[in-house]
Amino acid sequence: SEIYLQGYGGTSPAFTTDLTRVEAAAEKVLEPGPFSYVAGGAGSGSTARANREAFDRWRIVPRMLTGATERDTSVTVLGETLPAPVALAPVGVQSIVHADAEAATARAAAGLRLPMVLSTASSTSIEEVAAESGAGPRWFQLYWPNDPDVCGSILARARAAGYSVLVVTLDTWSLGWRPCDLDNGYLPFLRGEGTAVPFSDPVFRSRLDAAPEDDLPMAVLRWISMITGTDRDWDALPFLREHWDGPIVLKGIQHVDDARRAARAGVDGIVVSNHGGRQVDGAVAALDVLPEIAAAVGDRLDVLFDSGVRTGADVVKALALGAKAVLLGRPWVYGLALGGEDGVRHVLRGLLADLDLTLGLAGHRSVTGLTPAALTRAGR
Ligand code: FNR
Repeated sequence: SEIYLQGYGGTSPAFTTDLTRVEAAAEKVLEPGPFSYVAGGAGSGSTARANREAFDRWRIVPRMLTGATERDTSVTVLGETLPAPVALAPVGVQSIVHADAEAATARAAAGLRLPMVLSTASSTSIEEVAAESGAGPRWFQLYWPNDPDVCGSILARARAAGYSVLVVTLDTWSLGWRPCDLDNGYLPFLRGEGTAVPFSDPVFRSRLDAAPEDDLPMAVLRWISMITGTDRDWDALPFLREHWDGPIVLKGIQHVDDARRAARAGVDGIVVSNHGGRQVDGAVAALDVLPEIAAAVGDRLDVLFDSGVRTGADVVKALALGAKAVLLGRPWVYGLALGGEDGVRHVLRGLLADLDLTLGLAGHRSVTGLTPAALTRAGR
């Protein structure tokens, strides 16, 4: 790849190629409020740390003379063939890190043909982001409003705008206890950021006494009350089927019984995820529950994974432990902060190149052939 050849040829890139260091670089360009909002985790941060430690406990065991000079990183997931097993995790409020926000991310993702999962908490409307995505794959993430007409309207807009896969986030029916944001007094939504999807929705607007432009705090509170504290159970899922004719994925699954329940409910996929450690402090590392979940339901639905992926080696490990594809969160958000569309593209291209090279040097010719046999536990 270009970055690799330039780097080894003596030309440094505009941003670091060490995806474990983009966070520190982004901290220099962001205000403390937005930086902590992105980087922070729930409570003491132990879940976010555990996500990384879990990756370190697995080691890749490289194989030699396997003919891995030619590699294929493509994968078919949720009925779509992707050039690599990587999608951009849903991340709301992107205008807090860069003025170009979701539009920049959409262009960078589309250029690489990777799916961008557009958040319901987007600071840019569904239709605008769709236009920026061009022919790129697009998935939509739902924070599920308790008003069925508002929910139906948002889903109809996403379908009309060409979104194929619906990712329903289950783990955030209330925001986690995030001391950084509490201490900074920072909630982006109350600053008018990250509410473009509902605020541009005609049905949501019809529920308000005044337009969001005229009474922002009221509109924000109305929206937050619509997506939080909702008393819902597994019997609610058929509603989604009625309003979405493409694949449906449940995000935030961490217990094998919930994965089995999802399979019985007939959804097309799950994301094994603890929301990057932002919801339950002390929660199990997402990677630690992946093997059991993949073994239990991997033949019935597509198992995706996120929380803690930072390098190509991490992708190899997650795939070897049963994920079909991973979602990447914070690293490209830091790229967006550092350089808008170019920054997102830089991070994604670096990860893809690192993945391709690590796969090959470990002796594997395709991502689909990875099994637990590619790994060992550290210290063995
Ligand atoms: C998120 N995440 C998230 N998830 C979701 O379903 N809807 C959303 O709007 C958001 N918003 C959001 C904002 C920010 C700033 C972050 C960092 C994360 C969670 C995200 O999709 C994903 O689960 C984690 O980010 C994955 O962990 P890593 O890769 O960040 O460690």
